[in-house]
Amino acid sequence: MPRLLALAPILLCAAALVLSLLCLFAGTNKTFLEDYSIVTLNTSRLGQSALNTSRSSDNPFISFIDNVTNTISSDINSDLNSFAKDLGLHDFYSAHLRDYCEGYYTPGPVPNATLSKHSIHKNVTACSNHTATFNFDPRAVLQRELNASGHSNINLTDLKWPEAIDKGLHALAAAQKATFVLYCVAIALIGLALLLAIVSVFFDGRISAFVNVLVDWLAFLAIGLASAIVTAVAVKASHVINHYGNSVGVSASKGGKFLILTWVATAVMLAASLVWCADCVVERKEPKRVRAGKGKGFGGEYENGRF
Ligand SMILES: *[C@@H]1O[C@H](CO)[C@@H](O)[C@H](O)[C@H]1NC(C)=O
Ligand SMILES: *[C@@H]1O[C@H](CO)[C@@H](O)[C@H](O)[C@H]1NC(C)=O
Ligand SMILES: *[C@@H]1O[C@H](CO)[C@@H](O)[C@H](O)[C@H]1NC(C)=O
Ligand SMILES: *[C@@H]1O[C@H](CO)[C@@H](O)[C@H](O)[C@H]1NC(C)=O
Ligand SMILES: *[C@@H]1O[C@H](CO)[C@@H](O)[C@H](O)[C@H]1NC(C)=O
Ligand SMILES: *[C@@H]1O[C@H](CO)[C@@H](O)[C@H](O)[C@H]1NC(C)=O
Ligand SMILES: *[C@@H]1O[C@H](CO)[C@@H](O)[C@H](O)[C@H]1NC(C)=O
Ligand SMILES: *[C@@H]1O[C@H](CO)[C@@H](O)[C@H](O)[C@H]1NC(C)=O
Ligand SMILES: *[C@@H]1O[C@H](CO)[C@@H](O)[C@H](O)[C@H]1NC(C)=O
Repeated sequence: MPRLLALAPILLCAAALVLSLLCLFAGTNKTFLEDYSIVTLNTSRLGQSALNTSRSSDNPFISFIDNVTNTISSDINSDLNSFAKDLGLHDFYSAHLRDYCEGYYTPGPVPNATLSKHSIHKNVTACSNHTATFNFDPRAVLQRELNASGHSNINLTDLKWPEAIDKGLHALAAAQKATFVLYCVAIALIGLALLLAIVSVFFDGRISAFVNVLVDWLAFLAIGLASAIVTAVAVKASHVINHYGNSVGVSASKGGKFLILTWVATAVMLAASLVWCADCVVERKEPKRVRAGKGKGFGGEYENGRF
């Protein structure tokens, strides 16, 4: 009789495999789970503090605005968004495991009396090409967009982009690159655990339970480590950006949905390995009965028609 206890780990491993694949592929294009980002950077008010402080015309950003508006009006701040659009900049940049996406907040980026925070939606316009060793570098991304719109004379220093953000994110670059490799290792191990669980339906016995425990624990450790590192990156990056960026109108939020996804995958994998542990204990408690019904190893089982 096939071992029914193996069905639970099969379902759990399959669930963990799907969840971890979703983590890996979230946001690879603008329609596929784009809101499952690791960190979302909100640059919709970038440039605000350049407007407030020295409005000197040797800042190319200020002269760009003065050139466009021909007025030095006080409520230029409310039009900041349209200037940013003219410069090729977007409202938000959401970093995923292998790429980033960008877009605008609709109907507007900043909540006001008539616009509640909940009615603001992200309108994703594009996602970058994916690379295995993706590393989110907002300064390079923003400068590339300024260059692409023909404003390479304006640099991020003119927009008062804090250098401390670059330093803080640079410190996380290695961890960010490692997460992709860890997710791949974890997915391979979870796939192996799933195969072993399927095979174990037909071959019971302590050895198969031990092999399953081992592989499931390794898979759990890999996905757990990947989740821990990606959580650390998300928390640290959003902290650094908010700490140095809030005063210049830049903010960030960590991706709650992505973190839930990856930690649920970890918990499911833990459950799978606990089921195999329980199976080991059960097998150990009744070794006599198991052995008596077993014939001589796998060959004997096969001949007895147990396969
Ligand atoms: C986005 O990717 C998913 C899965 O990779 C695919 O099913 C979907 O068709 C893609 N959508 C677009 C617009 O490319
Ligand atoms: C810039 O000035 C506006 C009012 O003119 C104010 O509401 C805003 O908080 C200021 N921003 C910064 C970053 O100082
Ligand atoms: C201002 O606009 C004029 C023409 O529209 C252009 O030739 C000039 O380079 C602009 N100056 C700046 C600082 O952008
Ligand atoms: C609130 O923001 C929206 C979008 O930016 C704008 O259309 C609306 O006029 C604003 N309302 C007020 C009261 O400022
Ligand atoms: C974007 O950032 C600005 C400035 O920090 C903030 O006022 C606004 O509420 C943010 N918008 C969203 C949708 O988070
Ligand atoms: C989203 O952006 C696209 C192109 O940038 C635009 O055509 C579309 O109307 C926008 N959607 C909303 C809801 O604003
Ligand atoms: C993305 O890939 C396309 C072709 O696949 C290439 O033409 C384009 O230059 C790439 N973009 C970037 C930013 O690397
Ligand atoms: C943008 O243009 C400037 C000057 O044209 C160049 O020095 C810089 O390398 C460019 N940056 C990017 C990210 O393309
Ligand atoms: C940015 O531009 C200013 C002049 O507008 C220049 O002094 C500064 O060196 C530039 N910074 C970088 C990193 O290119």
